Amino acid sequence: MRKNSDDHFRFKRNMTGVRCNIERNSDQQMSNEELKRRQCTWVVQNDFVERIPVDKQILFSWCNINLYKDDSNPGSSSTDREKILPQEKQILANVSGNANPGELLVIMGPSGAGKTTLLNCMTFRNLKNFRVSGLICINNLPVRQIQLASQSAYVQQDDIFIEYLTVREHLIFQSLVKMESHFSYDERLDRVERVMKELSLKKCEHCSIGLPGIKKSISGGERKRLALASEFLTNPSLLFCDEPTTGLDSFMALNVVQMLKGLAESGRTVIATLHQPSSELFQLFDKICLIADGRTAFLGTTTEASSFFSELHLPCSKNFNPADHYIQLLSIIPEKEKECERIVNGVCYAFAKSVLGMKISKAAQEVEVTIKLSALLKINKTEY
Ligand SMILES: Nc1ncnc2c1ncn2[C@@H]1O[C@H](COP(=O)(O)OP(=O)(O)O)[C@@H](O)[C@H]1O
Ligand SMILES: [Mg+2]
Repeated sequence: MRKNSDDHFRFKRNMTGVRCNIERNSDQQMSNEELKRRQCTWVVQNDFVERIPVDKQILFSWCNINLYKDDSNPGSSSTDREKILPQEKQILANVSGNANPGELLVIMGPSGAGKTTLLNCMTFRNLKNFRVSGLICINNLPVRQIQLASQSAYVQQDDIFIEYLTVREHLIFQSLVKMESHFSYDERLDRVERVMKELSLKKCEHCSIGLPGIKKSISGGERKRLALASEFLTNPSLLFCDEPTTGLDSFMALNVVQMLKGLAESGRTVIATLHQPSSELFQLFDKICLIADGRTAFLGTTTEASSFFSELHLPCSKNFNPADHYIQLLSIIPEKEKECERIVNGVCYAFAKSVLGMKISKAAQEVEVTIKLSALLKINKTEY
């Protein structure tokens, strides 16, 4: 009987821990088509991934983020920052955390929990009609939007491309727009070449980007990688991605997440929100941040998550996708609101009181104390 196709391969990491090699198991046979498909997608060309030098690596943290939507008066003043006014809806409540260089941190949670809003707070985006308080820090120092933008890249969920351009033309155009003015044209072309190799786009460099489903186009996975490539021209140390796998089949999603993991392993700090990751994807995450009802329900490694929920007598059963388990556990189901809220409150409270939760809040408090002292000395403070 034919075994599961994955049994035919052994995935091996090389010295840098980045490259994925596929080795054919000699006593097993697999169709040429399947082998070709897997090799095309799986031999991730991470040999070319540029390492980020230690002095450019980023410890990214967010401290006590509170975000309110004022329904009666959008764009209300930011006085009384910590007070909830009667007409306001709190969307994020005291959310803190951090992501280290070399780590792929994935923000997960039920729909409407506040994942995108948190990512927006982290990147100072789309916050016009909200009242926000808290700090965003790089290496424990608060930053403003402009400082963050110069060191990071943000890959949006739906990227807009000019359909008539080829992949190569698009990247050259982006290099002219995005790279700093001191780069010569040849240096920009070199960078484009390098980024195409890093993100496995050489194969389709002369293909038109097109419009999915309307005009012959590159594949969904290539489109996502092109969005990443556009942001990579500036070689950022910190990368944010909102739902990078949405609209991709499971195999392509795996390919994109494998790539994000490779980029993290090269010294970058990678933060992504993911909707319903498969168990295969879940295993690739270094850390997960679970958001429920605008609060942190958990932040730590996948192994720590497993122990945390087991200790709460809410373990994930064997052969069940842990991501699905956590998301279901933290969802507010219509007509069962009270019961679900009780579980969510319990989990959030338990995490806040856990060793991991206390460590995060202590780090946030330390940053705040430093800032208060700095403010006294008239040094920068974060402003939304
Ligand atoms: N512009 C907005 N105005 C009012 N409420 C909003 C706005 N954006 C988001 N929200 C609310 O904030 C909550 C979190 O939304 P979001 O961050 O998009 O969730 P997620 O990304 O986890 O699905 C939801 O209850 C949503 O209705
Ligand atoms: Mg979202």
